Amino acid sequence: MEQTLVLIKPDGIQRGLTGEIIKRLENRGLKLVAAKFLLVNESLAKKHYAVHEGKPFYAGLIKYITSSPLMAMVWEGPQAVAAVRQTMGATRPTEAAPGSIRHDYALEVGRNLTHASDSVENAKIEISIWFKPEEIVSWERATDAWIQGQN
Ligand code: RTP
Ligand code: MG
Repeated sequence: MEQTLVLIKPDGIQRGLTGEIIKRLENRGLKLVAAKFLLVNESLAKKHYAVHEGKPFYAGLIKYITSSPLMAMVWEGPQAVAAVRQTMGATRPTEAAPGSIRHDYALEVGRNLTHASDSVENAKIEISIWFKPEEIVSWERATDAWIQGQN
């Protein structure tokens, strides 16, 4: 089953939106398989955002992500990468679809509340950066067949 990395960034935690963001992913039918709450150090932040090194917003992005605690999670489900990106909405909140988290709760690209892996390949890399294999919990959910079932 596909897995994806989600971060509730420091603004999401500070604004008390942790429960709301988790609720929306649960409502969608996605399954939580790993979670940790931590203050990210610069080394981890740089590893996570390595693809953005050299971009004008890079230094500010590292400062933002290390400024206050965040919640890192792995969510699982059919097409989890695409589903979670859709639930988060476009990177720029003013371009995010109505009903998405970034549309409903954010205004600035630099305070866009969440991170979600953008491909299955990057999800695997990002999950391995944030979690040890033994921290990913494989579990049966009573509703799995009603959410993940194919006819
Ligand atoms: P994320 O990686 O956080 O899920 O966001 P994303 O794929 O939608 O956006 P990405 O292009 O990967 O950018 C990563 C994060 O960098 C910040 N950003 N700021 N000031 C700017 O122009 C700018 N562009 C990107 C955002 O926090 C974005 O989520
Ligand atoms: Mg990205």
